[in-house]
Amino acid sequence: MFKKDVYIERRRKLKEKLKTGLVLFLGNKESSFNYPDNTYHFRQDSNFLYFFGLDIPSLAGLIDLDTGKEYLFGNDFSIDDIIWMGPQPKIKELAYKVGIENTEPLTQLENYLRNAKNQNRKIHVLPFYRGDSIIDFCNFLGINHTEVENYVSIELIKSVVDLRSVKDAFEIEELIKASAIGYKMHTTAMKMAKPGIYEQEIAGTVEGIALAHGGALSFPIILSQNGETLHNHYHGNMLQEGKLMLTDTGAETPMHYASDNTRTVPVGGKFSQKQKDIYNIVLDANNHAISLIKPGVPYRDIHLESAKIIAQRLTDLGLMKGNPLDAVQEGAHAMFMPHGLGHMMGLDVHDMEGLGEDYVGYDNEIKRATQFGLRGLRLGRKLQKGFVLTSEPGIYFIPDLIKKWKAEKINSDFINFNKVEEYINFGGIRLEDDILVTENGNQMIGKRIPITVEEVEETMNS
Ligand code: GLY
Ligand code: MN
Repeated sequence: MFKKDVYIERRRKLKEKLKTGLVLFLGNKESSFNYPDNTYHFRQDSNFLYFFGLDIPSLAGLIDLDTGKEYLFGNDFSIDDIIWMGPQPKIKELAYKVGIENTEPLTQLENYLRNAKNQNRKIHVLPFYRGDSIIDFCNFLGINHTEVENYVSIELIKSVVDLRSVKDAFEIEELIKASAIGYKMHTTAMKMAKPGIYEQEIAGTVEGIALAHGGALSFPIILSQNGETLHNHYHGNMLQEGKLMLTDTGAETPMHYASDNTRTVPVGGKFSQKQKDIYNIVLDANNHAISLIKPGVPYRDIHLESAKIIAQRLTDLGLMKGNPLDAVQEGAHAMFMPHGLGHMMGLDVHDMEGLGEDYVGYDNEIKRATQFGLRGLRLGRKLQKGFVLTSEPGIYFIPDLIKKWKAEKINSDFINFNKVEEYINFGGIRLEDDILVTENGNQMIGKRIPITVEEVEETMNS
């Protein structure tokens, strides 16, 4: 964890932004998978981690905005626990590490919250995403689960988003560490992508690299020779010559800062001309997008600029037709790229997504679009120094989507369906880099994973 001053300062800034009442951060508990004592790998809640730093189950943090007091709630382990788990720190010691003076057993949390409720004091919570947290919160307050949303505080959400969106130097250092793990994961996958190997052999090896660095994957690995399925978690295919393997994966550092990169490589190590033509469009769309990243520019505009490259170049290849700018305006390119250009990244791989994508990625000035494709963009608002985000354009040939658009003549003025059908088994290409917004421009987080045709072929054949 970071030094205690980091957490003290984060909580101080939060208190400064909020007016009155109590702020509750419920840490996560262990979660069972097939019987109570067999639990998933523990993942602490990212907001709890950000303000209270402790990566241990069954804790809660409380801030009283009116007295300024901060509390850590948790139970000391009993000797029965210690027999199974080894020596454990006391709650007081944990609290000390993050600069908190007041500790209470977990049972006291109910009293604090019920008293506040009886006195009509405001209780701020963030949106919950785990059933057991909702049950606990309802039990603490004696409310029904349908009432929980009355406690979800927009004021708190907006304050947390403001703070977490801008990464400090300590966080950037962690993100660079995560990127170094991601680099190894991706270059290993590239080298293993030979005909005859099963996707799961590569996926398992890649996940092992994340684990071997003391963290875990930042999300379940996407690795497939059917990369046209955007989030393909099936890894049972044997790789075939002539296919492309798409790998979208990242690691968390032991402190839970994420990396998230995508590379797409030719099985066997040599791109065909047809693959190269599409690959270089995606690469140019990515490079152009990155070149535009700087404070003050809305990410929605950068998304649209990368879409224009895709539409222009697919028109040059004969897959699209008409005026590419009009095609982008109408959303015709979205048959090939139905997702957004990128998202915020930090302690969550889709940073703060649990707080509501529109609070994280949009604001009063820039609202989420409703058009197919553009509506999938998770980050649209103006960039600021200290934001960390992904740039991840792609081109996919999704057979069911192509069939539907052709049958329904959707954007038929802009799409040359006969030509597109020649690519029906092509698969998909996505290229994803992680970027820090700096004072005047941007900087790649860590060393760029091989990405040009030459770099990829060289890595695969080394
Ligand atoms: N890398 C997975 C995603 O961004 O959705
Ligand atoms: Mn991503």
